[in-house]
Amino acid sequence: MDQHATDLLTDWDALRAGVPPVWARYTDLVVERATGSWVETPTGERYLDYTCGIGVTNTGHAHPRVVSAISEQAARGIHLQQNIVYHQPGLELHRRLPARFPNAAPGVEYGLFLSNSGAEAVEATMKLAKAATGRTSFIAFRGGFHGRTHGAMSLTTSSVKYRAHFDPLLPGIHFAPYPYPLRMGGADASLATTIAAIDELFASVVSPDDVAAIVVEPVLGEGGYVVPPDGFLPALREIADRHGILLAVDEVQSGYGRTGRFFATEWGEATPDIVIMAKGIASGLPLSGILAARSLLERLTPGSHGGTYGGNAVACAAALATLDVMDDERLPERAERIGGQMLSAISAMAKDRQHVAEVRGRGLMMAIEFADGEKLTPRPDLVKAMLGESMARNLLLLSCGTYGQAVRIIPPLVTTDEEVEIALRVIGESLEAIGA
Ligand SMILES: Cc1ncc(COP(=O)(O)O)c(C=O)c1O
Repeated sequence: MDQHATDLLTDWDALRAGVPPVWARYTDLVVERATGSWVETPTGERYLDYTCGIGVTNTGHAHPRVVSAISEQAARGIHLQQNIVYHQPGLELHRRLPARFPNAAPGVEYGLFLSNSGAEAVEATMKLAKAATGRTSFIAFRGGFHGRTHGAMSLTTSSVKYRAHFDPLLPGIHFAPYPYPLRMGGADASLATTIAAIDELFASVVSPDDVAAIVVEPVLGEGGYVVPPDGFLPALREIADRHGILLAVDEVQSGYGRTGRFFATEWGEATPDIVIMAKGIASGLPLSGILAARSLLERLTPGSHGGTYGGNAVACAAALATLDVMDDERLPERAERIGGQMLSAISAMAKDRQHVAEVRGRGLMMAIEFADGEKLTPRPDLVKAMLGESMARNLLLLSCGTYGQAVRIIPPLVTTDEEVEIALRVIGESLEAIGA
């Protein structure tokens, strides 16, 4: 290797400059290896990763069972294209994943369509809903995030940065407020406001018989980790049934054990029509998908949707190993238990802190919202300061919320009790350091 190349390999600033700024970035860390809950830099600094790759590495980084499944399948075939052949991990995943359909309706046979990213699974949902209903409009929720492709972006309002300068987006997308108890007068009032807004949309803007689907996150993700009132999904189910609309739950961030159930939808009893999955599905390999009744999925006719890489063999092998790990290590139960402990510990630390408006969450999907006064003026500056203080103490956290007003805490579901203790200590010290 010539001297220039050798220098470049250790000149991180020069190398980092080669990555375009569109990848807005939380840290400048270069990671040499990542295992379990930890990432490690080339100089051996270790960080406790409670960002989980934005809610992806639920089984931890490089879980040994996922790693062997990946390497074994890679040696047997990497790209076994879906339109050309079947492969064993794909067939097995199509058999096993539909059995996880949340609140499955009795007697209904469910099926699976696989793609690569969350946004692609959202696109599949929109196309399926259009094909199945013959309608073209959608209802989505303020603060929702569904991805960055044109269809998914059209449903997204968690921040204007995802939409700005990209008009025209898809027509026929209508928004109701997501029930946000803290900011909408409590659980009951927030739900009433949301339902009234949908009624009002139907009375004034869009006829319900033009609406193909309601697309909703069972727990609001990028928009602030907001847990809606229990009656939310049942109320949407009732509206959908009344008007022949499909109900699609976007479980990309809230699924795969994150909230203490395999899918967050299982916290209530509503049965969705379509479940959108990605992130945790293959422990970090690019894979996504939708679940729906087979009779519904079959409304997408041969060739009307798909993609070169959808259902990649190595990703499917990782997804099968992920399911095994989730079951054998009882990760959803673990998320519920540890999440409960962390939430009470953080709530106790935050009590009486004047800038902490709320500590909330479900399972290991938790947030601390910073806001001031009766008007709940968002304090993204405190969030940034908190992320900086945590990182200085080797704990990685993220932000969320339309105004960046909440610290988001997403530990891997395999995190150990000792790691939780470390994280709680750092969170306490960081709250103190920022004078919240
Ligand atoms: C709820 C939700 N839906 C969809 C997406 C888009 O997924 P992807 O980034 O894989 O396209 C995300 C990503 O954060 C998400 O949180």
